[in-house]
Amino acid sequence: MRLLGNPEKILQPFGGLAEHGLRMDIRRDVRPDVLGDAHALPFRDNSFDMTLLDPPYSDDDAERLYGTNHVRIMVAAKEAVRVVCEGGWVVLYHELSLPVPPHCILTHRILVETRPWHVARIVHVHRKDPGAYHEKGQATNKAECSACGQNYSRLVK
Ligand SMILES: C[S@@+](CC[C@H](N)C(=O)[O-])C[C@H]1O[C@@H](n2cnc3c(N)ncnc32)[C@H](O)[C@@H]1O
Repeated sequence: MRLLGNPEKILQPFGGLAEHGLRMDIRRDVRPDVLGDAHALPFRDNSFDMTLLDPPYSDDDAERLYGTNHVRIMVAAKEAVRVVCEGGWVVLYHELSLPVPPHCILTHRILVETRPWHVARIVHVHRKDPGAYHEKGQATNKAECSACGQNYSRLVK
């Protein structure tokens, strides 16, 4: 948080039992501040300083750990960008390296190791900046990896 200038209004759309910010979750049993679906946030445009997305990382995790459905992470990311103010932060946790959401520039990609033999997490840190998206041609929100050709369209709308 210090790295990002201590943002005040924080939203966690996949909030679970997170300790910071406004906790939204689709499950009632975690007693979220807001009950809702991260694919369609019930908030106005430009209303938070930061959104932090920590979704289930696979369909298997979603079903086995949380009893929830398939997550389209890039749809949730677009919603997270929409509700963040210009210059605000959009932080995505995932085990996959994800494309940069529209209207964002990537500022940091941090590898977080938890325990030996566990998959590391990648923390993708973005800043919302509509100019950068158009001017620098960073529209990397494609469903196909340019390096290996693998199709990830199930994660994208
Ligand atoms: C990895 S956990 C989040 C953990 C959280 N960072 C914490 O510290 O407790 C993922 C959470 O996303 C929630 N979730 C799954 N699908 C969702 C959706 N479509 N919308 C909102 N929450 C969802 C799950 O119920 C679960 O609590």
